[in-house]
Amino acid sequence: MIKRLGLAALLAFGFACRSSTPPQHAREAPPTSPGPSETNVQPQLVDTPPADVSHGEAQIGGPNASPAPVDARLPPAEPARLRRIRFEVSHKTIDIAPGVKYAAWTFDGVVPGPALHIRQGDTVAFTLVNRTNMPHSMDFHAAEIAPSKYYVNVVPGDSLHYRFVARVPGAFMYHCGTAPTAMHIANGMYGALIVDPATPRPRAKEFVLVQSEFYLSSKPDASGAKSLDWSRLLGLVPDHIVFNGRADQYATHPLDVRPNQLLRLYVVNAGPNRISSFHVVGGIFERVFQDGSQANPLIGVQTVNVPVGGGSIFELRLREPGDYPFVTHAFADATKGAVGVLRAIAAR
Ligand code: CU
Ligand code: CU
Repeated sequence: MIKRLGLAALLAFGFACRSSTPPQHAREAPPTSPGPSETNVQPQLVDTPPADVSHGEAQIGGPNASPAPVDARLPPAEPARLRRIRFEVSHKTIDIAPGVKYAAWTFDGVVPGPALHIRQGDTVAFTLVNRTNMPHSMDFHAAEIAPSKYYVNVVPGDSLHYRFVARVPGAFMYHCGTAPTAMHIANGMYGALIVDPATPRPRAKEFVLVQSEFYLSSKPDASGAKSLDWSRLLGLVPDHIVFNGRADQYATHPLDVRPNQLLRLYVVNAGPNRISSFHVVGGIFERVFQDGSQANPLIGVQTVNVPVGGGSIFELRLREPGDYPFVTHAFADATKGAVGVLRAIAAR
């Protein structure tokens, strides 16, 4: 790992020093013989020249066997002002990194839970059905209701129903709130609820990115799946930090956009522990609605923290064709999987 981190720093430097866009997947030829002054310089860099660099943390493109990525596009908001949302809680094995399976606790069988998109003023009629053998619950950050009445445990085989009006626009987290909450979140019980303002935002290409962490047991279960290591969680030592549930998936499968197109990224940080220092390499954010607030957006900024349990809305344009990595700029976390790529392709 130490060797990899050292290489990552050098790769990042090499990436930053490029003066023009290199061809995709082109590899620079290693020198045939090192000069006298190069003999003590990082021999591994010569062995693995800097190419396909997504800031050094993950290779852009990947093995064809890589599973299809989780769809990061924001689903459209439906016209109905009463939104009926029904989630079933189930325990299910999921893929969180190449070759790594995880025994997750899920909303509707997926991690993160389904991305939800509504409009300010919509009423959410929510039903939670518990198909597992332990209590679970649901906490919507977009709701202003009494937790003691609604964020209560649903016992195995039972269900819960409540309603709320989404009065405030933003990018909100939802999650299971059953104690210990860190355990339920770390096992996969979270997602994003996007509430559009009453006056619609300008048209843009929109993606939802939920950052989160996985803390793995050293030994898999009989099926080969890892599960939560509670001591690693309390020690703040995640094994994987991911966008939308899988390490590096949008580096392996970049998100296609157009140059100069307005992009809007809804970044929700589920944690349960790590702050996201969200950054797009090669871009500057036109506007950032910090923690989803409509008031006083940040203008012309490079990196903005998304707090654990919060969500910020990032607007930017990529100025020329090419690959633009997005990361948490806490690079230990990017090295563990919190990296993806926006691929700007000119229209033909
Ligand atoms: Cu739960
Ligand atoms: Cu919460």
